[in-house]
This record gives sequence, structure tokens and C-alpha cells, in this order.
Amino acid sequence: MALVNMSDMLRHAHRNGYAVGGFDMVSLPFLDAILAAGERCRSPVILSLAESHFEHFDFETAMAAAERAARRASIPVAIHLDHGGSLDMATRAINLGCNGVMVDASEESFEANVARTQEVVAMAHGCGVPVEGELGYVAGAEGDDAEKHPGAVRYTAPEEAREYVERTGVDCLAVSIGTVHGRMRGQPQLDFDRLAAINNTLGLPLVLHGGTGLSDESFHRLIRNGIAKINYYTAVNDVAGRRIRANAENTPDGGYTAMMHGVRGAMADEVARCMECWGSAGRAEGVLAESRPWHPVEHVILYNVSGVDDARVEAMMARGRQVLAGLPGVRRVFTGRAVKDGAQYRFSWLIEFASEAVIETYKAHPEHVAFANEHFRPVAGDRISIDFAGIGDDVAEARR
Ligand code: 13P
Repeated sequence: MALVNMSDMLRHAHRNGYAVGGFDMVSLPFLDAILAAGERCRSPVILSLAESHFEHFDFETAMAAAERAARRASIPVAIHLDHGGSLDMATRAINLGCNGVMVDASEESFEANVARTQEVVAMAHGCGVPVEGELGYVAGAEGDDAEKHPGAVRYTAPEEAREYVERTGVDCLAVSIGTVHGRMRGQPQLDFDRLAAINNTLGLPLVLHGGTGLSDESFHRLIRNGIAKINYYTAVNDVAGRRIRANAENTPDGGYTAMMHGVRGAMADEVARCMECWGSAGRAEGVLAESRPWHPVEHVILYNVSGVDDARVEAMMARGRQVLAGLPGVRRVFTGRAVKDGAQYRFSWLIEFASEAVIETYKAHPEHVAFANEHFRPVAGDRISIDFAGIGDDVAEARR
């Protein structure tokens, strides 16, 4: 059970002067490589899934794999939505298992950015999930040549950053200080003085987007000035591409598995190189000791009905599944009937919440209140309800 609270993880990095990698994954080999590098280096790591990459994989399936792998890992892991564009996407990400979300309204005006970030923060904090905001604009596109996406870089201003953080309550902030997403030509002009001023003003973990292409020395200076999370993708993607091209040359008749030969290992080497450079290598035990584990809560209701037949109960449960499964922080809604006749309670709801924080948020949500009062409680007077916090996942632990 190595999923940990991402806010605790980043605060540990910020306090101790290193940065955790937020590596975007676009396939199972990426997932394997990122976690293998983390295990090899004993490093905390953030698995990032970027909304702009959803054309390459199914988000829900990828989340199931990421969560399973993260729970099996022995290093601290967080799962993060990268560049989420809307409240709906942030809610979906949390319900699928992300325990960190980024809201990216950085192309909007300051006021519009604040407004969209505020609504995501209100929802996510209600689920106990930290939020990364972005102020200023980092141009370019992950996985591509930056110069093909020349949108003007807008630098983050320290005073504006203070107002943005105060008004939104974000837990960490992505800043624009001269990097671009994707492949760069030459070294960028990084504004270290600006970064230092933002760090002194905010005292919050800062996030660097567009990590590809920077020198080790630049990384060290960035980290000394408050960068605690570095987003990194294009370089790992390019390592894989080079390996695939070499495989194609060596085995021109090869199929998919021949093309993928050695790709995971090559990607893991690049991720491990970053973990060493950014100082996160060797920090796993420290982060585990100082971070809250991230575990779900099972909201259990056992009940008997009176005055309605089974068909009406099933219709009520179907309606409940539809209404409740979309509420913020609800991971899964299971409705059941006792297998054996004569059980003390004949029906059940097992509702998995993303975290303990969801208990209160869910209870107060108007759609839950309306469903419970109008459809459930009138027929289920005889019921018990208990919330259970997860204290282990034996299957994952046994397979580790
Ligand atoms: P690079 O692709 O330039 O490494 O940037 C990744 C990133 O910032 C993802 O959010």
C-alpha cells in the first residue's frame, strides 16, 4: 500500500531540497519503467496522466493499471491528473483513483484562471485531494518540437502568484520561468531570480513543467530555488522512439514485441538518471515515514425493506448507482442482495470513497440527500451504516 498523500510527498521534497519527478505515462511499458526506476533508486515518484494524451490510451483502463501497480510498489507513489482542463475531468480523475489533480487554466485571463481553479479546489479538497494550479504560460507541446508551438511564454509574476494562491488555496503551483514543453533547441533562458522571488513569497512547493532538455546544473539551481516537482515526458518518449527505430533496423521483419525489445529498460534508465540528478533517489523511506498513506474508505449500508417488492428495490438500486457513482470522491457503487435466505440483512450498498474526507462531502451533497430522502430511506427503515477505513490490501502486499 505505497500510495501516499501527494501534498505530504511534495512538502517533504520542498523542505529537504530535492524534487520528485512527475513522469507522464502513455502505456504499460511507461508505467513499468517509471516504477522500476523508482524501486531501483528508492525514490518517491508521481505517475502523471495528461488529458492531452488521452488519444493514446483509455484513461479508465490506464488508471486501473496505475493504481494496482502503485499499491504493489514499495516506494511512495502518487497518481496525478496532468493538465486537467475542467471540473468534470478533475472529478472523473479522482473517481478513477488520482490522488492529485492539476487544473490548467493558464491560457485564460487571471480572473478566469482563479475562478476555474477555485471550483476545482473546492471539489478536490472535499475529497482530500491536493491541487496543482498554473499561473503564467508554459508554451510548447509534450513530445513535439517546442518551436512548432510558438505560443508566447508568459512569465509568472510573484505578486500575482501570491494573490492566486491566497484566492484559490492550491497546494502547489506550476510556474512559468522560461521552460517550454517538448524538445528545445539550445538552452533556454531561465529566470532564476523570478523563481527565487516566487519561492520566498509563497513558501509552497513549486512545479516545473517542460523538464526535457535542461542541464543538470540548471536542475540543481531550480531545485535550490523551490522547485519540488518536475514534469518530464518528451525525453523518455524519445528514448523509447530511438530504441524502437534501432529494433526496426536490426529486425526488419519483427512484430510488436520485437520492436519493444529493451524499450522498458531504456526508459527506466532515463527516469533513474533524473531521480539521481534531482535528489529524489534514496528518499523513499523518509517520505514513507512522513506521509499519510492514501487509502480508501468503504461506506457500508446493510438494510431490509418493507412495503416494496424486489423489482422496486432493484429499480431503486439502479437509480442509486446512476446518481451516486458520479458524485465527487465516489470510486465505486456496489449494490447487493444476500446470497442466502434468512440473512440478518437482505440488501447492501458498498460505496467506496477515495478518502476519509469524502464521508462528510458525500453526506452533504444535494444529489445524495435527495436520493436518500426520496427513494431510499422511506423503504429501508431497518438499516445500519458504517464507514471502514482501509488498513491494508493483502492481495497487493502478498504479490509484491
Ligand atoms: P516535457 O515533455 O518537456 O518534459 O514536459 C513535460 C510536462 O511538462 C508535462 O506536464
